[in-house]
Amino acid sequence: MPGPADVGPGPRVPDTAGASDPRPLAALSGAAADRERWDGRHAVAGPTVAAPPDALRGRESLLPVSGRMLDVACGRGGVAVWFARRGWRVDAVDVSPVGLAAGAAAAPQVTWHVHDLGRGLPVECAGPYDVVVCQRFRDPALYPALAAALAPGGLLVLTVLSEVGDTAGPYRAAPGELAAAFPELEHLAHAERDGQATLLARRGP
Ligand SMILES: C[S@@+](CC[C@H](N)C(=O)[O-])C[C@H]1O[C@@H](n2cnc3c(N)ncnc32)[C@H](O)[C@@H]1O
Repeated sequence: MPGPADVGPGPRVPDTAGASDPRPLAALSGAAADRERWDGRHAVAGPTVAAPPDALRGRESLLPVSGRMLDVACGRGGVAVWFARRGWRVDAVDVSPVGLAAGAAAAPQVTWHVHDLGRGLPVECAGPYDVVVCQRFRDPALYPALAAALAPGGLLVLTVLSEVGDTAGPYRAAPGELAAAFPELEHLAHAERDGQATLLARRGP
């Protein structure tokens, strides 16, 4: 089981998907399979490229100048690195130590968490955050935790695969899924087309 030392540079990389996981073996092997599959993909990709979240492009003025942000299923950490380089305090979570190592090489000041999101958010990442980003990873069971992690006035930035404009599938959001999932937030922008759904939403003050 890879541990913190496998993740590469970075200040602190707690491995919360480790052998002490109390779940049944079947669930563990699902997380292990995710990790292996994504480690393989991230291992052949180039260096991390810092970039704002897709759903925020052209709307960067919605962001506070600085604060605390969480990148959920961060992959190689391009979004986390983009925020960190702007002075944000950043937590980034993914099941793949290889992806996180790429991010940590670009921004060691981010706290990188190796963690299976099938278990919810890591306890250290309960918030409150001024921005929570989750893009190209969909787990409806996680939606309440994403909303709960927002500080008053905090911004949620989501992009998921959608059935709208594409075929149905287990990894795709049904029409209206994102709009219905966050009734307690103010919806600033919502789109569903070409197989992708996005939501920008804010918690009230
Ligand atoms: C399509 S990538 C998206 C990465 C990044 N958010 C981006 O936009 O580039 C999906 C990510 O979800 C992560 N992932 C898949 N299953 C996971 C799980 N059970 N727990 C945590 N991360 C997981 C993968 O390791 C991968 O980095």
